[in-house]
Amino acid sequence: MFVTFEGIDGSGKTTQVELLRAELERRGHEVVATREPGGTELGEGIRRLLLHGVDMAPWAEAALFAAARAELVVERIRPALERGAWVLSDRYFDSSLAYQGVGRGLGVDAVLELNLAVTGSLWPDRTFVLAGARRQEGAPDRLERAVALQEGAAAGYAELAARFPDRVAVLDGTRAPDQIAEEIRARLGLS
Ligand code: TYD
Repeated sequence: MFVTFEGIDGSGKTTQVELLRAELERRGHEVVATREPGGTELGEGIRRLLLHGVDMAPWAEAALFAAARAELVVERIRPALERGAWVLSDRYFDSSLAYQGVGRGLGVDAVLELNLAVTGSLWPDRTFVLAGARRQEGAPDRLERAVALQEGAAAGYAELAARFPDRVAVLDGTRAPDQIAEEIRARLGLS
């Protein structure tokens, strides 16, 4: 299973990846957890450009996220899925659909087309969007400073849930982490 976690910055995604990983490992499954942008050497370099580099055109931003994702799919995600591991990703292409497609106004369809090309049409099996919570830690990076982008992304996630109801579930992220984790396990049929 390929499960992705989405939400605006500080929505608690990383905690949920760790809780689900622990549960799956307890049940004896191999788990590969990864994060975007990053997760490969190339991706970490691209991450620095995106978060701490100069301003760039919206399509340049979308293309850099897509480049990091293309590498992550080839190096880590596909090999793991092929040997039967669970893959849990802290963000995947729905981030680009929400942030670049809606937040930057490039259009969900155009950004989806780019992402299907660069991932070889690798769709997540299930996607959990954690909504409602926002914790800001440390100094904001280039993307966190873009308030309209963050607001657009929140609206974008709602749009994605409506468009892909069988895959994307929006969860109330203001609850205690254990409660959210329980709902995720139930939705994955692990309870
Ligand atoms: P990061 O520090 O990883 O944030 P978080 O811990 O919230 O995941 O920064 C990732 C930032 O990049 C975040 O603001 C969302 C943004 N982003 C996009 O705009 N498009 C994308 O495709 C991805 C993966 C992230």
